[in-house]
Amino acid sequence: GAPVEVDVSKLAPGEMMTVEWRGKPVWILRRTPEMLASLEQTDGKVSDPDSAKPMQPAYAQNKHRSIKPEYLIAVGICTHLGCSPSEKFKVGAESGMGADWPGGFLCPCHGSIFDLAGRVYSSMPAPDNLEIPPHHYLADTTILVG
Ligand code: FES
Repeated sequence: GAPVEVDVSKLAPGEMMTVEWRGKPVWILRRTPEMLASLEQTDGKVSDPDSAKPMQPAYAQNKHRSIKPEYLIAVGICTHLGCSPSEKFKVGAESGMGADWPGGFLCPCHGSIFDLAGRVYSSMPAPDNLEIPPHHYLADTTILVG
């Protein structure tokens, strides 16, 4: 599959867009400072906080799992059996996920939970963090996926 060029200049903080790459949905989430701060809260709850598993590109081996902290670029396919997790960006009780929910993604199939860096919570059916596709920045707000 050919690489996909994505213009993220219109993406507002807190918004997510999805592009298709090699038949897979690739999420681009522009995280707010609050969303980035939530990663501190989830750090102790996820099984691979620094994405140390060798399957991750080097630039995803950090807490925010991205080249620029603001933009999460991840394949929106659950690493368990391939369902599509849904966005649960709302925090707290409003999310329906409990009062201390810091925002993230929920897989409807078997309940795996991911934080706003796509890091899987401990003891979930999904074994790994969401895949970070190969990508780089062509310009400040132009990303080439693939
Ligand atoms: Fe997502 Fe099973 S496919 S938890």
